[in-house]
Amino acid sequence: MNSVNHLAIIMDGNGRWAEQRGMPRWKGHEMGARAVRRISDAACRREIPILTLFAFSSENWKRPAREIRILFSLLQQYLQSELANLLKNDIRISAFGRRDRIPKTINETLLNTERATQNCRRLHLRIALDYGARHEIAEIARSLAQAVAERKIHPDQITEETFSSRISPAIPDPDLIIRTAGEQRLSNFLLWQSAYSEFYFCSKCWPDFDESDLDEALADFHSRTRRFGALDRATGTSG
Ligand code: FPP
Repeated sequence: MNSVNHLAIIMDGNGRWAEQRGMPRWKGHEMGARAVRRISDAACRREIPILTLFAFSSENWKRPAREIRILFSLLQQYLQSELANLLKNDIRISAFGRRDRIPKTINETLLNTERATQNCRRLHLRIALDYGARHEIAEIARSLAQAVAERKIHPDQITEETFSSRISPAIPDPDLIIRTAGEQRLSNFLLWQSAYSEFYFCSKCWPDFDESDLDEALADFHSRTRRFGALDRATGTSG
């Protein structure tokens, strides 16, 4: 059976969830933050070692300033109110993406939470913040070009492996990527890392996504045959 070492989620549909109920969009984000707690605890119980959540994309800066402020304030509240629960459940938090554009207070809280939880081992909860995969890939290409120009590496040393190791050291590619709220696209999320990920699209909006939805996604994933381009050992068919 396939095992999920790394689960990634595109948490979509907070705004729609709220609009469908005649509520302001921030209410959807607030309920979305609750779902983060619910699903990370559920991932722990299911012994999934790595959970990556797409919390704020580099394109999300195009949203109204008020919505951006609310999103960061919810993240801040989450990090502060969850610390005890994270430590109790042995959950490590780290963020990735650009750190130079996010509010200073958020950066400080993130650094404190990263430090406080760095030795937690049960679940590694990774938060993609001001993240865009194309930017990430372009940055690696730039750093490799720089290393070649400075004669620190030879162009022949640029391989898929060296690229991967610079993108997210020690983090295996996601086995499964779930996207909620019905859209079926990656939206600039983990483009390099998802080459052989399985995708699962769920029509529920993120605030409604619960343990039973997670279990459905996992059952679907377990039923698939992953061949990574090779032949199916049992049938000899390709994929
Ligand atoms: C997508 O919904 C969701 C986001 C842009 C933000 C996700 C943020 C949270 C769940 C809250 C805080 C995060 C953490 C890690 C505690 P959308 O607003 O794009 O929904 P829509 O497509 O229906 O408008």
